[in-house]
Amino acid sequence: MAITIAIANQKGGCGKTTTCMNLAGGLSAAGLRVLVVDADPQGSATEWRNRSEESRLSFDVIAMSTSSIHKELPRVIKNSSYEVAIIDCPPGTETKGFGTVTRSALLAADCVIIPSRPTPIDFLATSIMLPVLADVATIKPEQRVFLLLNAKHSSNRLGRTAKEGAIAMFSDQGIKIDILQTEIHDRTAFAEAPASGQTVVEFAPSSKAAEEILFLTKEVIKLCLVAQQ
Ligand SMILES: Nc1ncnc2c1ncn2[C@@H]1O[C@H](COP(=O)(O)OP(=O)(O)O)[C@@H](O)[C@H]1O
Ligand SMILES: [Mg+2]
Repeated sequence: MAITIAIANQKGGCGKTTTCMNLAGGLSAAGLRVLVVDADPQGSATEWRNRSEESRLSFDVIAMSTSSIHKELPRVIKNSSYEVAIIDCPPGTETKGFGTVTRSALLAADCVIIPSRPTPIDFLATSIMLPVLADVATIKPEQRVFLLLNAKHSSNRLGRTAKEGAIAMFSDQGIKIDILQTEIHDRTAFAEAPASGQTVVEFAPSSKAAEEILFLTKEVIKLCLVAQQ
């Protein structure tokens, strides 16, 4: 059955949809059959897919913004040829703090990627996810959680202490988190690609943005796909 990856963070604008769609583009380019599950009621991933008539995304996008993703998604992927499903989670505004849709997405996931802008304040903001991650960890102890540094500016000098602080904040709650080696920078191609209905891999194949996504793709294949089989 397909490996499921949830892209989650209660903070809007941290790069969930950008990561989800571009990673889907990267995994498709690597020859994998990918399904994107748009769990955000705002429908950003669906809108991205529909943005351009000429765009032919090399993966499918379905909308599923319910609190029973963990029940419905396995039914969708069970008899399909999908090898990876990536869930684009909503921001955590549906209920106080963190919503039931995200909890359900986390329950469906083998791996969780938390994109965060690389500042100590943004890292700290992810702490609102700790209770739900801890809760899901008791049900799915084998689930792996990764932090992805997104939209890094060349001036962002994020020290080792800040990274270690983030890891410690999660481990204090019994959640083992690893910081992905790939660092995604703030690049125009990421902001421009959605209007073309494409991912950066097709929109700007020789760009640094595409290079970073292909690096992320390899890392995700190694950590989430190969490791799970
Ligand atoms: N690495 C990046 N470089 C440039 N712009 C980015 C990057 N990541 C996200 N953005 C832009 O930031 C905005 C919010 O990103 P988005 O992926 O929609 O966040 P979320 O889904 O978490 O709300 C979008 O306009 C997107 O194009
Ligand atoms: Mg989004």
